[in-house]
Amino acid sequence: MLRVVVMVSGGGTNLQAVIDGVTNGTITNTEIVGVISNNKNAYALERAKNHDIPARCISPKDFPSREEFNRELLAGVDAYQPDLIVLAGFLVVIPEEMIQKYRNRIINIHPSLIPAFCGTGYYGLKVHEAALSRGVKVVGATVHFVDEGTDTGPIILQKAVNVEQGDTPEMLQRRVMEQAEWIIMPRAIDLIANGKVTVQDGRTIVEI
Ligand code: GAR
Repeated sequence: MLRVVVMVSGGGTNLQAVIDGVTNGTITNTEIVGVISNNKNAYALERAKNHDIPARCISPKDFPSREEFNRELLAGVDAYQPDLIVLAGFLVVIPEEMIQKYRNRIINIHPSLIPAFCGTGYYGLKVHEAALSRGVKVVGATVHFVDEGTDTGPIILQKAVNVEQGDTPEMLQRRVMEQAEWIIMPRAIDLIANGKVTVQDGRTIVEI
């Protein structure tokens, strides 16, 4: 069984998609062993509790320095002994020590087709605002491994979504979640849990 820790900051709809995937068998060979939020008010924490998944908040606000927060975050993750760390809308920069320790064992969902609309400053609704303001006709989502850069790690899965006339950033965000994120995140976890994803020369080989 792949032991998965999910890290969240907000609503947790991607966490819910992963919980549902494990429950309904879309994701096989996987157990969600813990949820960590940096935000004590994140609804994602409620979702974890509703499914009896151990959950805790580790907030930078509760530590005198970033170093101490980073140390506690890594210790909190380590305590669950995960095989895979899933960043599901986790909006905190991952400490470098964690990236090194869990090389190719941390995945992130980003709400665009990387390399478009990604990197520093592109997160959440801002991604969809930028896509609409550029006038692109196709957007989407990406699941990738996390490396030291921002949204630069090896890409595992991507899925495209059409922009429609009259879309607001909120409408587009919802469609990207429904048609891409909630599908490719569970799918990527299932592929990893079944040994179907390897990394070679900074790129993935995915056996679909
Ligand atoms: C999702 O759209 C996810 O792709 C995005 O935050 C949202 C979290 O929603 N992540 C990023 O922008 C990371 N750069 P959720 O809490 O409902 O899953």
